Formats: sequence, structure tokens, C-alpha cells
Amino acid sequence: MESSQSRRQFLQGTAAALLTAAASYPKLSQAQTIVSSDEDAYWAVVRSQFSFSESAVPMNAANLCPSFRSVAETVTALTYDIDRDCSFNNRAKFGGLLEQSRATIAQQINVSADEIALVRNTSEANNIVNNGLELTAGDEVIVWDQNHPTNNVAWDVRAARFNLSVKRISTPTSPANKQQLIDAFVSQFSARTRVLTITHVSNVSGIKLPVKEIVEAAHAQNIYVHVDGAQSWGAMPLNLRELRVDSYSASAHKWFMGPKEVGLLYVHERNINRIWPNIVAPVGAMA
Ligand SMILES: Cc1ncc(COP(=O)(O)O)c(C=O)c1O
Repeated sequence: MESSQSRRQFLQGTAAALLTAAASYPKLSQAQTIVSSDEDAYWAVVRSQFSFSESAVPMNAANLCPSFRSVAETVTALTYDIDRDCSFNNRAKFGGLLEQSRATIAQQINVSADEIALVRNTSEANNIVNNGLELTAGDEVIVWDQNHPTNNVAWDVRAARFNLSVKRISTPTSPANKQQLIDAFVSQFSARTRVLTITHVSNVSGIKLPVKEIVEAAHAQNIYVHVDGAQSWGAMPLNLRELRVDSYSASAHKWFMGPKEVGLLYVHERNINRIWPNIVAPVGAMA
């Protein structure tokens, strides 16, 4: 991350995670003011946002990232707060915080807040789409063989239960160009294909799929495209409106460096009514 552009992107992602936690950590604004001056001072401020040990650097970011210190502090403060007073009156503020979080995330990935659901993780978001889409026996679902099991195995299970067919696609190990990746999927579309489910950035090979082009080709044949963004949300600037995906899943506890066990499910507004709920708990239901 050497250019000032990269720094700006890092800070944008950082700001989103912190806003989502409804906290402001003074050292972040300090980092913004030194963004174009001293390199070491800048990284020292960034480093100070995390509480991991000085003697170890977390490397497995694909699986679980450390949260920003302020995120963990906010989660702890809100947990204590609700334990002190778990009345409906005190809990009412969470409605506002949830809406604030949805709006902040929506702005970060250029969609509208109504299209965002906060769930538990990417796995849950993948399964909501998998269980919610209306399909009939004989329909075909195309999956990338590099998808995470919470995507591919979930489709195998649904296919076995409802008599769907699942086609697994491999891509070249070292693709020579974007077109090879696009062709690998598009050449397999058939008149029975209803859903294509892919991963933005593979946790297996690191390959980043040309999602925009693949979506465009799929939509031309009325194929729904779900994208698993577990390895892209927080790791790179995202503009889901531009990618035109039908739905997108991710986890806040990965590159976004937000709270643990918070997931993102984006569903384009035109598809919201196409996803049947599989856990039904009407809003406003009183215990
Ligand atoms: C591409 C991808 N999808 C889904 C997951 C599952 O994420 P989670 O455990 O947060 O649901 C992972 C985990 O590493 C992943 O890399």
C-alpha cells in the first residue's frame, strides 16, 4: 500500500468500519491529517488502531481479521449497556444504530440501505439466497469449483432435496487474460440455467473474477447471479451498482475488520421479493 490513493482507500474502509460500530476513535482523524506527510508516523497511527500483540502479525486475513480497537470497545460497551438495562426502552436505540449501520455500508458499496441486510456471516447470507430463490425440479445451477463450501455444498444439498442439477465449473489455474475466465462460465450456460453463483476473489487461488462482464452475459440469458464477496468487502473499493450483481454476501470480521459474527447480505431491489425468508420472525414481535 504505497500510493496516497491506497492510503485514501484504506482510510475510507476504516471510516466505514468505525462508523458502523457507531464509535469515533480520535487517532483515526490524526492519521488522516498526516496522510501525506511522514510514512512511519502514518503507519504507527494505523497500527495503534489494533490491539494484537507487538510480537506477532496476523497473516490469515482471509479467515478472520482483528477488529479495530474501537470496534471491540463499542461492542463491549453496548453489551454492558444492555446488561445493565435490558428494558424495551433502553433497547430502542438499537433500531437507530442498525439503520445507521445499513446506511453507512450502503454508501460504502454504492447501493441503497433498503437493499442491505445484516446477518451473521457470509455463510448465512449464501444460505439465505440458496434457500430463498424459487426454483423447480430440473433447473440448473452453475457454481465455480473454487466457491466456499457454504456456497457449493449448500447448493448440493438443495439440489439433492429438490432435484436440481448443479454444474461445477473450473477455470484455468493461470489465466492468460480476463476473457478466459469469462468464457469458462459463459460457455456453460444452457436454457436450463437459472442461477450462477461465484466468488469475487477466491480464497483458494486468489483469482479475482471479472464479475461485471460475467454478470452482463448471465443477465442476457436471464440468469440470476449471486456473488460471494467474503474476500473482497473491505479489501478493495466496491461499487455493487456498477457490478450489477443480483446478490452479494460478505463478513464484517474479515477484511472489513468490523465486529465478529456480523455478515452482509446485499440483494438488488428488483430481487428482494424473489428471496423467500427461511427464518420467519416478524418485526415488532414481542417476547
Ligand atoms: C470466499 C469465502 N466465502 C465464505 C466464507 C465463510 O465465511 P464466514 O465463516 O465468515 O461465514 C469464507 C471464509 O473464509 C470465504 O473465504
